[in-house]
Amino acid sequence: MDKLIVTNFKMNLSKEEVLEYKKIVENSDIKNLIISPSNIYLDLMSSNKYDLCAQNGYYEDFGTHTGEVSFKQLKSLGVKYSLIGHSETRNMSNEDIPLKLKACINNGIVPILCVGNDINEKDTSKLFCILDKELKILSGLKINDIIIAYEPTWAIGTGVTPSLENIKSVHTYIKNVLSKVYNIKCKVIYGGSVDMSNIKEICSIEEVDGVLIGSSSLNPNNLLKMYNKIK
Ligand code: 13P
Repeated sequence: MDKLIVTNFKMNLSKEEVLEYKKIVENSDIKNLIISPSNIYLDLMSSNKYDLCAQNGYYEDFGTHTGEVSFKQLKSLGVKYSLIGHSETRNMSNEDIPLKLKACINNGIVPILCVGNDINEKDTSKLFCILDKELKILSGLKINDIIIAYEPTWAIGTGVTPSLENIKSVHTYIKNVLSKVYNIKCKVIYGGSVDMSNIKEICSIEEVDGVLIGSSSLNPNNLLKMYNKIK
């Protein structure tokens, strides 16, 4: 199966840079790509070459929420996916995550739910407990389409990744829980310090359906080189 590449530009790149990015990607042979620019560039970045993903959204459709953007508004731009619960957007209570998931579903946006926050790979017993807790968000929701991203916070932007055995066992565990407890079959991708040096071995794990890439995806030529390593 072809692996999925999801980029997360976070709060980076100018208008000129995203337009140049789009041009370079459109002139390439890359497939299975989802791009998450800053929400302000989503409309500009629209393309047949890849799908668009919002980095976050607000759970109400309209209202007095200054500075927020709703999933309904994102959908009207042709946005197909949204990151939900990325560790850089989570608030202390995490209460809004189920609301955001519901709003995504109601508006036909596929959530990319980030889990794995603060899990240290050495605490394997704790690790699965935390994942159970994080995935409980899915109970009671009627979800046909979702992607789960395993993103341990300690691996984000640090240049350090979990061992390949850890990634494999977490992905296997998540897929098991999803199918046995929630009757969900979906892609599970890995995020956290994915770069040119490790993308091939991470994607060679059968249980890994793709990668969520932050800083190494900011340069379109790097992105294409990474794609070439796994295609
Ligand atoms: P880095 O690839 O920069 O570690 O970021 C990962 C991430 O947070 C993607 O959502």
